[in-house]
Amino acid sequence: MVKISPSILNADLANLEREVKSLESAGADMLHIDVMDGVFVPNISIGLPVVQSLRKCTNMFFDVHLMIVNPEKYVERFIECGADLVTIHYEATTDVSNVLDTIRNLGKKAGLAISPKTDPKAIFDLLPKCDLVLVMTVEPGFGGQKLISAAAEKIAVLKEEIAKQNLAVEIEVDGGINAENAAHLRNLGADILVAGSYIMASDDRKKVIDSLR
Ligand code: DX5
Ligand code: ZN
Repeated sequence: MVKISPSILNADLANLEREVKSLESAGADMLHIDVMDGVFVPNISIGLPVVQSLRKCTNMFFDVHLMIVNPEKYVERFIECGADLVTIHYEATTDVSNVLDTIRNLGKKAGLAISPKTDPKAIFDLLPKCDLVLVMTVEPGFGGQKLISAAAEKIAVLKEEIAKQNLAVEIEVDGGINAENAAHLRNLGADILVAGSYIMASDDRKKVIDSLR
């Protein structure tokens, strides 16, 4: 069954512990933490101290999505603060292969994200170094955007290549996901769906998470 990773980007950040507990009891499989630096993307979100503080109040699996330039400078510190999976952007560094190795050598899962305009073929050679690929279906930077259908079609391309290389890489999809488009994403081969504003907007988070599954 597809896993659901709610993004806390549009959560009530003044009451983050309460938000995380509510997502956990609503059946979320993990927690998607969006880190933005105002350079790779035109927005600034949360960083190391927030991850460290959250680590003290939950045992949930932390799916940390780094939308920052030169992630090699920070991956180790995010892991020290409690990240279980660290996803970096293909477009954010010239050193992708080494950064993926670093994450794995530190005993954590390594993820590689591609923005909507990036050709999935660009990462075929890197798949053996990944535990997960993240297909962005909106331009990274903001929650609440509309899913770009053409970007979603990359899921099937990656699924086929992962099978061809006989790998166990999971495919996560992020951006503009709701109950209307979730079935199509699942059919294309998504293993994990990230959803932010769609979940946060609802009073009944369990129902909404179930509707995405
Ligand atoms: C966008 C972030 C997403 C986003 C998801 O840059 O990576 O994780 O917060 O939010 P929705 O579901 O609202 O698109
Ligand atoms: Zn994200």
